[in-house]
Amino acid sequence: MSEPIIAQKAPFAVEVEEAKNYFWCACGKSSKQPFCDGSHKGTEFTPVRYTAEKTGRVFFCGCKNTANAPLCDGTHSKL
Ligand code: FES
Ligand code: FES
Repeated sequence: MSEPIIAQKAPFAVEVEEAKNYFWCACGKSSKQPFCDGSHKGTEFTPVRYTAEKTGRVFFCGCKNTANAPLCDGTHSKL
């Protein structure tokens, strides 16, 4: 498995809407971070769908090394 690109060593805080689907960029190449823009084509990565349980702020992983994708689990502080 190849390594994802670190988009940033910090989470992206995003206001999400209940029941809406979001597609988190797993490869790190998207220019629309933290979401997929199709740039993963040709890599082994695919986006991860996130369905918001409620409206509010969510911290999406920016370093792409989280063990709890697509959300930040604090791993970025060890990179
Ligand atoms: Fe990164 Fe789609 S652009 S997963
Ligand atoms: Fe990736 Fe926090 S930004 S674990």
